[in-house]
This record gives sequence, structure tokens and C-alpha cells, in this order.
Amino acid sequence: MKINVFESKEELYKSVSEFYIKAINDKPNIILGLATGTTPIPLYKNLIKAYQDKLVSFKDVVTFNLDEYIGLPKTHKESYYSFMRAQLFNHIDINLDNTHIPSGTLEPSEAIKLFQKEFDSFQVDIQLLGLGSNGHIGFNEPGTSFESTTHQTNLAKSTIQDNSRMFDSVDEVPTKSITMGIKDIMRASSIVMIATGNQKAEAVYKMVHGPVDESLPASILQKHKDVTIYLDKDAASLLK
Ligand code: F6R
Repeated sequence: MKINVFESKEELYKSVSEFYIKAINDKPNIILGLATGTTPIPLYKNLIKAYQDKLVSFKDVVTFNLDEYIGLPKTHKESYYSFMRAQLFNHIDINLDNTHIPSGTLEPSEAIKLFQKEFDSFQVDIQLLGLGSNGHIGFNEPGTSFESTTHQTNLAKSTIQDNSRMFDSVDEVPTKSITMGIKDIMRASSIVMIATGNQKAEAVYKMVHGPVDESLPASILQKHKDVTIYLDKDAASLLK
């Protein structure tokens, strides 16, 4: 694991954005695994700016998102379908046919089959990950098998609580999702993980120093040959 710790979030996102811009320019038809949540928003903002400044094009880029809530209509602003359009896709020259997000509205077993089939026909070059405060990656909650592929999950109580900040009340947060599995995530050629803030510090510590154990899904990243972790100093505060 390569760990980069930054004094400020601005420096962190500048560095990770530069990494992505170079990677896309080096391989214009790159396959990117993308994440939602609060963590990638500043990265997506920087990538939109780079596109507007003509420093990068997404014309031939292919994307796969990690997960989607089950039961929210696509038009709901917190569906990951809407999120990706609002935060990135609507502002760049990506071909929307090349973007893949599990469906939260199809019958789940159909949605899983469809997503896995598309996913299996590509090799993700760079998978972007955020980190749950409970150590989840994608919506692979503690206890998920390291051998999992795309599947339906029940969100952990702590995840529902964490994500309730985006909804009017905790009761509106969906309780189920479809997520790329841990085995799928580990298949990516390289992985970029971003974590910021004190509330991630304990999960970061366990991910880096803890045993590789299904009780802390992100600990599996210790076994991947090309992982770069971008942390601000708060998220890194417990590291040895
Ligand atoms: C989002 C995802 C989740 C988030 C994690 C952190 O697609 O897969 O694993 O990355 O819950 O969320 P934020 O960034 O909101 O702290």
C-alpha cells in the first residue's frame, strides 16, 4: 500500500486530480471504477474544470460505479444515477452509453446479472474508493465475503446513520443496495482510496495496520499489488 498524507484537503484533491488527468491522457479509453458519496465530489469538480480548460477529454472513457440504492427512482436526487449525472457526467463529454451503474429499480436479481455481465467484459484500470466509517468499501459491509461479486446488501445501521445527512430524515435512507463485490473490486489493475476527516481515522488505522479480516472489508486492500491511499492529516491521525 502506498500512503500519501496531505496537510490540507485542497492539496490532496489537487494531487489525486492530477493523477487522474494524466492517467486519462495516457489512455483515453481508460476503464474507470467510480464512487459516490461526499469523498469524490471535490475530485469530480476538479475533473470538470480540467475538461472545461481542455486539459482532458472523457470521450472514450468507460465507467463502472460501485453501487446503487435499491428502491429510489432514478430521478431521486440521492440515487447514485442522479448523483453521477449531477456531479460529473452532465458536465463532461463522456458518452453516457459508456457509463454503468447497477440499477436500483429493476428486479434486483436482474439488475445484478446485467451489471455483472457488463462488468465482466471489461478490465477496470483504476478503481476509486471511499471508505465507510465502519470500514466498508462499495456497500460491502463488515462480514461480507472477500469472494463476493455483485450482490444485494442490507446497509449497516451505521451506514444508514452516516448517509442520513443527505436525506430529510433517517427513515428516508434506503436500507438495501446493490454493490460490486469485494472480489470484483480487487480485480482492478490499480486502486485509489481517498479518506478524509477524523470520523474515518479508526477505519483507516484498521485498514492499514489491522488483520486482513472480513469484519473490516477495506483490510483486503493490504493484499492488492497497486493501491494508493490519499489521506488528509485527520484521517491519518491514528496511523503509526
Ligand atoms: C459510494 C460508496 C461508499 C462510500 C463510503 C464513504 O459509492 O461505495 O463506500 O465511498 O460510504 O462515503 P462518504 O464519501 O460519503 O464519506
